[in-house]
Amino acid sequence: MPRNADENAGNAYGRGQQTWDAELTEVGPGTPCGEFMRRYWHPIALSEKVGPVPQNIRILGEDLILFRDRKGRPGLLYPRCAHRGTTLYYGKVEDEGIRCCYHGWLFDVKGHCLDQPCEPEGGKHKDNVRQPWYPVDELYGLVWAYMGPPEKKPVLTRWDTLETVGPDEMIHVTGSSTGAGGDDTVEIVPTNWLNDWENIMDPFHVPILHTTFSTVQFVPEFGVMPTVKWEHASHGMRYIAYRELDDGRKMDRITQALFPHARIVPDIRMKEGPAAGVGWVVPVDDTHFRLFHARKVPKDFKPIIVRHYDNRSWSELNEEEHQRFPGDWEAQVGQGPISLHSEENLATSDLGVVQLRRLLRRQIEIVKEGGDPLGVCFDPEQAVVKVQAGNFFKK
Ligand code: FES
Ligand SMILES: [Fe+2]
Repeated sequence: MPRNADENAGNAYGRGQQTWDAELTEVGPGTPCGEFMRRYWHPIALSEKVGPVPQNIRILGEDLILFRDRKGRPGLLYPRCAHRGTTLYYGKVEDEGIRCCYHGWLFDVKGHCLDQPCEPEGGKHKDNVRQPWYPVDELYGLVWAYMGPPEKKPVLTRWDTLETVGPDEMIHVTGSSTGAGGDDTVEIVPTNWLNDWENIMDPFHVPILHTTFSTVQFVPEFGVMPTVKWEHASHGMRYIAYRELDDGRKMDRITQALFPHARIVPDIRMKEGPAAGVGWVVPVDDTHFRLFHARKVPKDFKPIIVRHYDNRSWSELNEEEHQRFPGDWEAQVGQGPISLHSEENLATSDLGVVQLRRLLRRQIEIVKEGGDPLGVCFDPEQAVVKVQAGNFFKK
């Protein structure tokens, strides 16, 4: 008998426990996905925003202090001082590191204790103390952190499109929610990172959410239902969405998702050619993420402000307008703090999401088994990833 033949089938009363797939979504220390994530470098801040004033930052469910010492080195330390545990948020940054406000212990960016002013001779035993620290690096105008086992620290991945910057070009970085449907008034998106990352393998929301449901958010051509092929590709997977446009043009739009959370989306105005940049969906904790982007742009580039309705930006919409003209923010945050995977009914158009989750689960297993997941690289000669995404028109 068909499942819905009973008139009362699907009644909300007495429905089962609703759950999410914790293995794929939770990122705290010691969790399966958290340990997988801790095998990669993550962008954590824009370099230009990291100065001598200590900042609280949250990443992979850990609260940390980020600062730049007066010699220019970024540092990422556990917040509670190794002496008696006040936060280094109130510390003072000096040439060599950060000095705790309470009794003045000074720590460098690798957690070495350099001075204990209340102790005899400035601390005869200070070498026994180490403030917990994480390695950081800088690339493309971003500060990156590695929060995993030291012996497994990979090289920092580079991207070919960002390696070749011409004399009239520059790399433009952002850390706002713009690419997740918000705008530059908000940095942190209140939903699980996987809601956004798997959206990259979901080409079928483009003709609906972005084109016919809420007005044309990008270009009208995206209203044409694509023929889609999903496939494994270097460091993750990609899809090729083929469209025959009303004006006779034919195009392939190739989008990539690369481990652990990189997303390469071609130009949303359908400009021809390879994608100019890379985005990263960095988990803040289990129920928040932050998006970073680095893009190669002309030096005279002016950031595009996406207009959602009535020529207004996302943060200028009132509540009813968010309902009537939703975009990625509304759809993804609308999936809840973590999407309830037990309640889903995945369909043909979700093949990319299914494949991506399967591939992600495999990488998590590989880490559990002591192996190295896809995209982790220890050879500086192999550190550059080739960008395949773009809008490609066919003759
Ligand atoms: S608590 Fe930091 S120096 Fe005492
Ligand atoms: Fe979208």
